[in-house]
Formats: sequence, structure tokens, C-alpha cells
Amino acid sequence: MTIDSVRFGGDYNPEQWPREVWDEDVALMQRAGVTSASVGIFSWARLEPRPGEYDFDWLDDVLDTLHAGGIRVLLATATASPPAWLARLHPESLPVTIDGTRLAFGSRQQFSPSSSTYREHAARLVEQLVRRYGAHPAVEAWHVGNEYGCHVVRSYDAESAAAFREWLRARYGTIEHLNDVWATAFWSQRYDSFDEVGVPAQAPTFRNPTQLIDFDRFSSDALLDLYLMEKRIIREHSPNIPVTTNFMGFFAGADYWRWAEHVDVVSDDMYPDPADPRSHISAAAVRDLMRSLGRGRPWLLMEQATSAVNWRERNAPKPAGLYRLLSLQSLLRGADGILHFQWRQSAAGAEKFHSAMVPHAGTDTRVFREVAALGAELGELGELVGQPVPAEVAIVLDWDSWRAVEQEATPAQIDYVETVLRWYEGFLRRGVTVDFVQPGGDTDAYRLLVAPVLHVADDRALAALAAVPERGDVLVVGYQSAVLDENLHVRLGGYLGGAGGPLQRALGVWVEEFAPLPAADAAAALAGEMPGTGLGWQETVRVVDAEVVARFADGFAAGGPAITRRATGAGAAWYVAT
Ligand code: GLA
Repeated sequence: MTIDSVRFGGDYNPEQWPREVWDEDVALMQRAGVTSASVGIFSWARLEPRPGEYDFDWLDDVLDTLHAGGIRVLLATATASPPAWLARLHPESLPVTIDGTRLAFGSRQQFSPSSSTYREHAARLVEQLVRRYGAHPAVEAWHVGNEYGCHVVRSYDAESAAAFREWLRARYGTIEHLNDVWATAFWSQRYDSFDEVGVPAQAPTFRNPTQLIDFDRFSSDALLDLYLMEKRIIREHSPNIPVTTNFMGFFAGADYWRWAEHVDVVSDDMYPDPADPRSHISAAAVRDLMRSLGRGRPWLLMEQATSAVNWRERNAPKPAGLYRLLSLQSLLRGADGILHFQWRQSAAGAEKFHSAMVPHAGTDTRVFREVAALGAELGELGELVGQPVPAEVAIVLDWDSWRAVEQEATPAQIDYVETVLRWYEGFLRRGVTVDFVQPGGDTDAYRLLVAPVLHVADDRALAALAAVPERGDVLVVGYQSAVLDENLHVRLGGYLGGAGGPLQRALGVWVEEFAPLPAADAAAALAGEMPGTGLGWQETVRVVDAEVVARFADGFAAGGPAITRRATGAGAAWYVAT
């Protein structure tokens, strides 16, 4: 997408309105400085009212009307919400929850990610759409699905179980190998063949940790596979138009490092809570993550709200100016488009109380005035499009560590994202730009690398961390890092990557015991050269070759090292045990 202006607009759902409103929409879009509209995200039932019977006339009209008004279209593939007939004819396509409940038709996203019936019908619809609109002059991008996994990230139906078995077979080859990796010698969990392996549904007590993480990985891959299926069809008939699907910031269900390489432009939906005085911190971090996922390329804020949402318990409106501020936050952190859910506030349906660009009360409103003002302002900021956002600091973000550290039966419940954000906040407050990187990824561009709760680390990740101080840069490792390998087996011989391993050598310390404090925000006083307060965690740290910069002043680990530093010429390796 080569453009020289900031995109501005939002989800456009004209099927909710009579035809005469569409012309008014275009006139208002022009007044508000709108450049782009995402069309058809939830239009499957209207496009294919009965199996195999298509109605595209209205969409022709929508696209032509927008095009005539100079509005570009991000055309959705409409597969986010299958029609009633699919549920009626193929109830097996509906997702099943962990306790065996089959979810019903009547909201949206009611498909099992592994349903072959859903796949077939989705593929057929996408092919029709792409053949018809693949070269339409209004279409500037394809918007595949919508927020994959938002409502249904894992399904426990029979087809998902079969697909999981295939995924495991491809990964492990033999059942013996799976037994080793899953450590099924524990609690008599041994399998004799792949046919015996199932999804980790409700069970009497703690389930097999490696089965759990494999199911998480599989579930993310199953969703990604749906996206890729649609993308292949689009590529065939519409080779030159970029393809994306909207991410959801810090979303545990989809490993966006794996997804990002398959989108032509990274796009994200984000709804910081106006009532939360810290929400700008996670918002900033998510923007930085989106830029990082695209390896510095401009990304698209696909959805935000102009004011209140409708899905929190209490939905605060955005006070005057906050909408502009959060929009500019995205722009300055690398976005080249500011879009919204949605253009015109719905008069009916489950989202009627969700704010939009055109509120219920119309244009003589605070919200519409702020929208039009922002549209005009963004119209002047075209020079920002494509500007790099340089960063010298990176934080390692890892979906496997996130999944593992939040499993049941661990030393303590740790909120992975919250812990990452505590580190991030320190940089934000000092005005330091941060990128996020994948474990084991290339970090040469950074002078400082932080690895908070990198609970799971494979050999490549360990080597990549150790290389940072070695080359004269600074590494900071946080507690609970490198405890497990990629199979969730403990790295034995002292925590932090195992006896004599690259990370223990780089840091010059190892960890003997964990001592979580009674609450995540309970304080651990620190004394020494770097006095202060740690939170939530203590450990017994054994120093081999490092200076102790701070010691725990009280609690289980009182007197022991809390922060250590091992100098390496110009660089250093820090360990922070709280
Ligand atoms: C998500 C969806 C939209 C809408 C908004 C409401 O982002 O993609 O369709 O439901 O939430 O905030």
C-alpha cells in the first residue's frame, strides 16, 4: 500500500441502514476527511442468504457509491460470522467449549477453527468475492476474517481433536517421541498410539503441561491456517492488493510472531479504557508491538472507539481530547492509518451503545466535531507516513513463556503481560522508545535488551541472550526466566538455563529457590548500592561471577542478592530477582 496520506475511516456496515442513508454517509465521510472504509466484515448472511445463492448487487452499489465519493475500501471476506443456515445444516461446525457445551448460533464467530465444513463454505464465498471485486478500483486492501480467536480461540469438538492429533503426528512423528516430550511417565499418562491422544478438556485435576501448551500452539495455528486458506484464494485472483487481518494487541490466543510474516500490513484493534489512568501504557506498548511485528514497517490501527465501548461493565466515554491523543499516539508509534469501529453508530443490535464516528445524535455533537477535526488534522500530516521510529532498547516478548507461566500448578500465578508492562513503563516514563523482539531473534540493532519472565527458553534463545553482553551491549534478565525448555521440562542444575549453560555463564549467577511473595504487588525491600522496592517475588540467588548491586533487606531471601551485574567491557549482564 503506497500512500502519502494518513488513512482515516472505519468499519462501514451499510447493510444495517436503508439505501438513502448511504449517500448521506459518503457526504459525511467527505466532510470528516475519511479516506477509507472497511466493508462487509459481517455480511455473509446478506451475501449468501441460502447456500450457494449469492446476492452481490447491494455490495456493487456500496463499492461504486464509495468509489464515486473518493473513499477507498478495505474489503472484508465476510467470513467472521457464518449465517444461520450453516449452523442449521451443519451443527458440527459449531465450536465446543472445554466442558463440552456446543455453542449456539445467534451472536458471531460461531465456528470451530478446525471445521472442514466452515472452511469449505468460507473458501467458496471468498472465491466469489475475490473474482468479483479483485480488480475493483475502490479496493485498496483485503480484510480477512475479523479478530481471529476473539471469541473462540480453542474448540474441543471431535474435528478439532482429530486435527490436533494430525498436528502432533507432524510434530513428533512417533508416539514414543510424544511420550518423551509430554513426559507421560508422570501419573501414568502414557499413550500407546496417536488415536488415544485427545484435546486437554476438563479433567479431575492438573492436566499435562506440555499437552496444554501444544494445544495452545495448535489452536493458534488452526486459526492461522484459516487465514492462510483465504489469503491463498485472494492471491490467486487479486495478486496485487495487500492482505491483512486485524490483530488484538496482547492477545494470548494467537502467537503474532508466527502470524505477522503472513500479513502484508500489520493491523490492530485497540480499546484503551478511558477510566483506567494506566491504559495509555499498555496502549503505547501495543503500538510498539505492532511496529515490531512488521519489523518497523508502517502498521494500521484498524479499529478504535471514538468514545465509549459497550463491553466493559461500566463504559466510560473518552473525555474531550483523549480520542485525538490516543490517535496521535498510534501515528507517532508508526501507524499510517487511524480507523474505527465503526462509521455510523448502530440503531439496533448488540453494539448499539458502542460509540462510532457518527453518533446516534448526528453531526451536531462533540464526538462528530472531534472526528472531523482529527480527520482534518491527519490530512495535514501526510509527511509522517513511513517515517521510521528508531529504538535502541528492546524487550523480548514470547507467547510460549506467556502460556507456560500462566499455567496451573506453578510457583505462583504471574500475570505475564502485567510484568512485561512494568518494565515497559520504566522506559515509557523516561521517554525511551522500545521495540519488542522474538526470543532468539536478531538483536544486533539494540544497545539494551530486557528479558522479563522469559520462562521458556530453547537453546537458540539462550545463545541469543548470552551474545548481547558478549558483544558489548547490555542484557537485563528478569526473574522466572529460562526455567524451562521448549517442551516445558525444567533445565536442571540450578535455574536460569541449567548448569553451566550460556545464560548462567553470561549472568554469573544461578538460582536455587523461588520465593513468591504473598501477592503480586507485595513489596520486597532492597538495600545496597541500588536500594528500593521490589515487587511480588524473591529468589535465592547464588553468585559465581558477578557483583551484587542490591540485596533483599527482608523476607525469605533476606541478605541474599536481588540485583546482580556482570560487566563485560562496554557491556553488562544484569539479573533482577524481583
Ligand atoms: C472488535 C470487533 C468489532 C467490534 C468491536 C467493538 O474489535 O472487531 O467488530 O465488535 O470489537 O469494540
